[in-house]
Amino acid sequence: MGSQVLWFLLLLTLTTFCKSKSCHPNDLKGLQDFKAGIHSDTSGRLGKWKNQDCCKWEGILCSNETGRVVQINLPGLYTSGDAPVQSTMVGELSPSITLLNFLEVIDMGELVGLTGEIPPSIGLRLPNLRKLNFLGNKFSGALPESICKLSKLEELYLQENGFSGFLPSCIGGLKNLKRLNINSNKLSGAIPESITSLISLESLCLQDNVLAGNMPENIGNLQGLKELDLSNNSLTGIIPRSISKLNSISTVYLNANQLEGKIPLPSKPGQFSSLRFLRLQNNRLSGTIPASIGYLTSLQRLSLANNQLKGPIPSSIGNLKSLTELYLTYNQFVGQLPRSIGRISQLLLLSISHNMIEGPLPQEISSLSNLQSLDISFNHLNMSAIPKWLKQLPSLSRIYLAGCGIRGEIPDDLQVLAKSLMEIDLSANNLSGRIPAWIGSLSWLYSLNLSKNKFVSEIPSTVTNLGNLGVLDLHSNKLEGSVNAIFQMKSRFEGGSLTYLDLSDNSFSSVIDQIGMGGQENIRHLNLSRNFLRGRLPTSIGTLKSLQTLDLSYNGLGSNLPTSLANVSTLERLMLQKNQFTGRIPEEYSKLKKLKELNLSDNLLEGKIPYGKPFLEFPQSSFSGNRGLCGIPLPPCKA
Ligand SMILES: *[C@@H]1O[C@H](CO)[C@@H](O)[C@H](O)[C@H]1NC(C)=O
Ligand SMILES: *[C@@H]1O[C@H](CO)[C@@H](O)[C@H](O)[C@H]1NC(C)=O
Ligand SMILES: *[C@@H]1O[C@H](CO)[C@@H](O)[C@H](O)[C@H]1NC(C)=O
Ligand SMILES: *[C@@H]1O[C@H](CO)[C@@H](O)[C@H](O)[C@H]1NC(C)=O
Ligand SMILES: *[C@@H]1O[C@H](CO)[C@@H](O)[C@H](O)[C@H]1NC(C)=O
Ligand SMILES: *[C@@H]1O[C@H](CO)[C@@H](O)[C@H](O)[C@H]1NC(C)=O
Ligand SMILES: *[C@@H]1O[C@H](CO)[C@@H](O)[C@H](O)[C@H]1NC(C)=O
Ligand SMILES: *[C@@H]1O[C@H](CO)[C@@H](O)[C@H](O)[C@H]1NC(C)=O
Repeated sequence: MGSQVLWFLLLLTLTTFCKSKSCHPNDLKGLQDFKAGIHSDTSGRLGKWKNQDCCKWEGILCSNETGRVVQINLPGLYTSGDAPVQSTMVGELSPSITLLNFLEVIDMGELVGLTGEIPPSIGLRLPNLRKLNFLGNKFSGALPESICKLSKLEELYLQENGFSGFLPSCIGGLKNLKRLNINSNKLSGAIPESITSLISLESLCLQDNVLAGNMPENIGNLQGLKELDLSNNSLTGIIPRSISKLNSISTVYLNANQLEGKIPLPSKPGQFSSLRFLRLQNNRLSGTIPASIGYLTSLQRLSLANNQLKGPIPSSIGNLKSLTELYLTYNQFVGQLPRSIGRISQLLLLSISHNMIEGPLPQEISSLSNLQSLDISFNHLNMSAIPKWLKQLPSLSRIYLAGCGIRGEIPDDLQVLAKSLMEIDLSANNLSGRIPAWIGSLSWLYSLNLSKNKFVSEIPSTVTNLGNLGVLDLHSNKLEGSVNAIFQMKSRFEGGSLTYLDLSDNSFSSVIDQIGMGGQENIRHLNLSRNFLRGRLPTSIGTLKSLQTLDLSYNGLGSNLPTSLANVSTLERLMLQKNQFTGRIPEEYSKLKKLKELNLSDNLLEGKIPYGKPFLEFPQSSFSGNRGLCGIPLPPCKA
C-alpha cells in the first residue's frame, strides 16, 4: 500500500520534472529575443516555439553532450513533409543571438525580410561558428572587425543584402574559410591584401559589388582556391600573374571590371592545370594571346570578348582539347584563323565577330562536327561566297555571317541544314537574287536576318509554315509584292511567336489585309516604313496587344486612322508621317499613356489635336504638314 503511494509520487515528480525541462537560460533568452524581433513569419515555425525546452523547437538543434543550442536552421526555402516551402520572415535580428554562445551553424538564408546588422560582438561571443548564412535578406551596415576572430568559420554567405563599407582588412584571419560569397551588396574600397592568406579557401565570390581598387599582388597564395569570382565590380589595375600558379583553381571570373594589362597565362606547362572556366570579357585587357594559352588543356570555356586584344590567334589554341566555347568578339585580332582550330573537336561555339580576321577561313573548320554556333560576322573576311564547308557541319543551329563580303545567291544546297538551323544572320552582305522558297522548310527557324543586301523577290508564301519564327529582319533590300504572307504565319504558339518584324526600306506595294488574325499578339517591334504600301490600316491592328514600336512612315497609306489602335496600351513609338491619312486624330488615342514618340506629320489630317497627355508632350513637327490640324502645339483652331 505504502509502496504504491511512493511509486505514484515518484511518477508524479518525474512527469513534472519532464514538463518543466528547460534548455539553457542563455539559449532560451537568445531565441525568445530573436522571436520577439520578428513580426511576420509566413512559415509559422516560430509560432510553435512555446514551451521552455528550446532544444525541441523546430529549426533548433542542441548538442547531446552539452545540452546547448548548436544550430539554428531557419532557411527561407525548406521542405515540410515532402513539399518544398518558400517562406519569408520580416523583422530585425536581435543582438541577443550572441547569447547562444555554443552556436556552430546559423542558417537564415533567403528569408527576404530580415534587417539589422551583424552583431559587433559576434567574433567574441560565437567562437564555434562554422557556417553563417544570411543570403538574400535586407541586412545592412559594415561587416564588424570581430568577424575575423571566427577562426572555425568555413562558410560565409552574405550575398544579396545591403552590406556596405570595406571588407575588413583582417579577413585573412579566417583560416578555415572555404567559401566566401558577398556578391550583390554595396561594399566599396579595395580587396584587402590579407585575403591572400586564406589558404584553405575553395571559393571566393565578390561579384556585383562596387569594390574598387587594385587586385592584390599575392592572390596567388590562395593555393586551395577552386573558384574565384570577382566579376561585375569596379576593380582596376592588372591581373596578378601569380594567379596562374593556383593549381587547384577551376573557375576564374574576372569579367566586367576595368582590369588592364595582359591576360594572365602560365609561363610553363603544368600551371593553371585545373582551369576549366576563364571569363575575362568586358575589361580593358591589351596585348596579344600568347602561345602559352595552349598549356590550358583543361579549359572548357574561354571568353576574352570586348577587350583591346590584338595580334593573331595563336595556332597553339588547337591544343585546347576540352574547349567547348570560345568567345573572342569585339577585339582587334588580325591575321587568319589558324588551321589547328579544326583540332578542337569538342567545340560547340565559336564566336570571333567584330575583329579584323582575314580570309580565307581554313577548310579544317569542317571537322568541327559538334559545332552548334558559328559567329564570324564583321571581320575582314571578303568571303565572296557562303563557304561550302558550312553544310558539312551537321550540328550547326546558329550561323552569323554578317558583313562577310558575300556575293551572289543563297545556294540551294544549304537546305541540308534545314533540320537544325534556328538562327541565320546573312545581313550586310551583297547577296542578290531571290529569297529561296525552301526557307519555309526550316521548321526550327527562330531568327532570320537578311537585311542590307540586294535581294529582289517577293516574300515566298512558304514563310507561313515558320511556326517558330520570332525575329524577321529583311530591311534594306529590293523586295516587292505583298507583305501579307507574314501576317498569315501559322505559329506553333498561342498568341504567336513573332516579336520583331522589320520589312522597311524595300519596295513592297500591297494593301495590308489583316494583321494579327494568325496570332501576332506578342509582336513588339513592327517596321514597314519606306515602302509603297497602300489602302487603309486595318482595324485588326488593335489586336497587337504587345506592340511597342509601330513605324509605317513613308508609305502611301490612307483613309482614317483606326480607333482600335487606342487599345494598344503598350505603344511607345508611333511613326505614321509621310502617308495620306485623312480625318481627325481619334480622341481615344489619349489612352496611349506610354507614348514617348509620335509623328503624324505630312498626312491629310484635319481638326483639333486631342488635348492633354500624351499629346502635350510632342513638338509641332509631330503634327506639321497636314491639311487642317489645329490646337496645341499648333496654332489654335478657328471658332
Ligand atoms: C543526439 O542523439 C540522438 C539520439 O541518440 C541522435 O539521433 C542525434 O544525432 C544526436 N545529436 C548529436 C548532435 O550528436
Ligand atoms: C552587375 O551588378 C549590378 C549591381 O551592382 C547589377 O544590377 C547587374 O545586374 C549586374 N550585372 C550582371 C551582368 O550580373
Ligand atoms: C575580295 O575578293 C575578291 C575576289 O574574290 C577580290 O577581287 C577583291 O579585290 C577582294 N577585296 C578585298 C578588299 O580584298
Ligand atoms: C540585322 O542585321 C543588321 C545589320 O547587321 C543589324 O543592324 C540589325 O540589328 C539586325 N537585326 C536584328 C533584329 O538583330
Ligand atoms: C557590295 O559590292 C559593292 C561593289 O561590288 C561594294 O562597293 C560594296 O561595298 C559591297 N557592299 C558590301 C556590304 O559588302
Ligand atoms: C524603321 O526603318 C527605317 C528604314 O529602315 C529606319 O530609318 C527607322 O529608324 C526604323 N524605325 C524605327 C522606329 O526603328
Ligand atoms: C478595345 O478593346 C475592347 C475590349 O477588348 C473592345 O470591346 C473594343 O471594341 C476595342 N475597341 C476598339 C475601338 O477596337
Ligand atoms: C516627323 O517627321 C518629319 C518628316 O520625316 C520630320 O521632319 C520631323 O522632324 C519629325 N518630327 C518628329 C518629332 O519626329
